[in-house]
Amino acid sequence: MMAADASKTRRLLQPFAGRALSPPPIWLMRQAGRYLSEYRAVRAKAGSFLDLCYDPVLAAEVTLQPIRRYGFDAAILFSDILVVPDALGQRVAFVEGDGPRLEPIRAQADFVRLSRAATRPKFARVCETVARLRQDLPRETTLIGFCGAPWTVATYMVGGRGSADQADARLWAYRDRAGFARLIEILVEASIDYLAMQAEAGADLLQIFDTWAGSLPPREFEAWVVAPTARIVSAVRAKHPQVPIIGFPRGAGEKIGAYAAATGVQGIGCDTGMSVECMAELARARNVVVQGNLDPMLLVAGGEEMELQISGLLRGLAGVPYIFNLGHGIVPETPPENVAQLVELVRKPKG
Ligand code: CP3
Repeated sequence: MMAADASKTRRLLQPFAGRALSPPPIWLMRQAGRYLSEYRAVRAKAGSFLDLCYDPVLAAEVTLQPIRRYGFDAAILFSDILVVPDALGQRVAFVEGDGPRLEPIRAQADFVRLSRAATRPKFARVCETVARLRQDLPRETTLIGFCGAPWTVATYMVGGRGSADQADARLWAYRDRAGFARLIEILVEASIDYLAMQAEAGADLLQIFDTWAGSLPPREFEAWVVAPTARIVSAVRAKHPQVPIIGFPRGAGEKIGAYAAATGVQGIGCDTGMSVECMAELARARNVVVQGNLDPMLLVAGGEEMELQISGLLRGLAGVPYIFNLGHGIVPETPPENVAQLVELVRKPKG
């Protein structure tokens, strides 16, 4: 079958068949974005950030920009995790230079109007981008779809904006456990729909971003991170067993092994806090692909230190099913030439 042949040649999918590649396949979180002048040019003519996310032609274009420049092994769909609350009917806006603003949800009464059925037209636009990309990308390039994990998306929905401590969501979860569980439930269902639609449209790998997983103590981590993610993984895998899923529970620390085992993900995105030894051990003990975890600030700094830490990752993870990435997204201050150098260093033959 054509699709099966193509996926065999996609290097970034091979670690999921247990293969350790040298050099490892590479893509970078936030590889499309403001550090690229060609992104800023498209962004300026798109109107609002959400307009860009919902425009299949422009969203596909900015997805392809880093592939043209650097030839990464994967493209990640250009969209945002806050497309889900927007599609559910919450008011979401991106304020220039100041991040997302949402009309905050503080009680069950505030989210009765959120509707799973309402998501369809907006999800369909994003999936049009996915379908376009699968057509336009080189055959060997993996296409990654994604969503935010329910906990992380809920922190924005409840707080109305990004925050350092996610206090509003944590407080609501303690004061009204049943009400907060209902919000998480809505997000689980919408995320299943959204990821399954992306897989149907041609995404061949999926990632679940749980940026704020690290703010929760163990019992809450289990309730709001592990259990909802496990439900998403099992429902999406039931429909699309050939599409691996990477979980990225940023800041999970010592709970990462339990997360890997209990959620059933095929890959783990490792944040900058994890040692190379822990990554290798996680891959072995839990039979998962590990991805990560160069500090994005090293990509800003560049130079000898970046070189040193790249070789540390390559050496420490030789023989492990591994995907090279950062431990979090590229920041806008990143010099594009440092990204070129990083790709060159990762792909340089050993010796
Ligand atoms: O290249 C890619 O990685 C694909 C696109 C992508 C974006 N956001 C584009 C974006 C992905 C995968 C995301 C995920 C995302 N969005 C996360 C999880 C990963 C992470 O970084 O922790 C989160 C928490 C968000 C929410 C979000 N979106 C915030 C807090 C902000 C504002 C802060 C910022 O970096 O500007 C955004 C805006 C956003 N999403 C931009 C981009 C390129 C910049 C906005 C712009 O161009 O004006």
